[in-house]
Amino acid sequence: MADAPAGSAAPATTAASPTVEIVPIEVDRDTVDDPTFEEQLTTFTASLSSSVLDYPVEHGRRYHAFRKGSYVFPNDEVIGCDLSPIQPTWVPPNVKFEVDDVESEWTYNFTFDFIMCRYMAGSIGDWPKLFKSIYDNITPGGWAEFQDWDLRCASDDGTLTAEHVTHQWCTSFLGVLDSINRNAYPGPKLLDRAKTAGFINTHEEVIKVPLGPWPKDPRLKEIGMMNLVQTLDGLDASLKALMMLGYTEEEVTLMLARVRKELKSREFHSYIKL
Ligand SMILES: C[S@@+](CC[C@H](N)C(=O)[O-])C[C@H]1O[C@@H](n2cnc3c(N)ncnc32)[C@H](O)[C@@H]1O
Repeated sequence: MADAPAGSAAPATTAASPTVEIVPIEVDRDTVDDPTFEEQLTTFTASLSSSVLDYPVEHGRRYHAFRKGSYVFPNDEVIGCDLSPIQPTWVPPNVKFEVDDVESEWTYNFTFDFIMCRYMAGSIGDWPKLFKSIYDNITPGGWAEFQDWDLRCASDDGTLTAEHVTHQWCTSFLGVLDSINRNAYPGPKLLDRAKTAGFINTHEEVIKVPLGPWPKDPRLKEIGMMNLVQTLDGLDASLKALMMLGYTEEEVTLMLARVRKELKSREFHSYIKL
């Protein structure tokens, strides 16, 4: 999180920037050879679809689900911006979507109290310019939140090696994105970029997001399962980028099938960082 200095366009100093130390995630050794894993994956995917809609809606307004009732007002007016009209139609009435390019000049005739910029890894060519646009469009004293990835797959215990096709897929895919100036690991640079843009009162948190249900901790296990489901679902999106390396469609399809098999085998304890 980062705060725009109130009432001043002068360069600001950073008041505090604590970074939370990230420790290795403990591995669950009990579930490695579970024969019901495929079945669990299917059940989990089905239950996930219903739980994401679990917000209380009253009188056409959506309220927060966590600690229901403790804040009596509906969610505030929100503008969502994307290059593509990918959004669903079942959004709450206080949300409006705009199709726009965040890398173009921002032409709003008002400023925002809060701007969140999330999951733009692999999308942005000029990050410093984007940070400046966000800073310039926040009301003095307002806040910004940046959530982004370091999509380089890693493991703390050395179980993910360069021999794994998952590692090769990840490295090749991120390499292509880099070569077209769309870096896929902006996460580690967010804090510095926020400070350079002028934000003060900055705070950084780094979270390891497991890829697969390998952690012992139940919450991390569930997060790992969600991440696995969305990764398996989204793998095909890397096809076009990988073909830029000279592979044929058949070769990439075969590679992705091997990645899928490896990810489901749970032979390594990998994560990405958020
Ligand atoms: C990985 S998705 C993340 C979507 C959303 N921000 C979220 O957190 O759920 C990246 C999105 O960025 C959009 N995008 C890429 N470049 C953009 C740009 N220059 N301006 C606006 N949106 C862009 C893509 O269309 C895509 O929907």
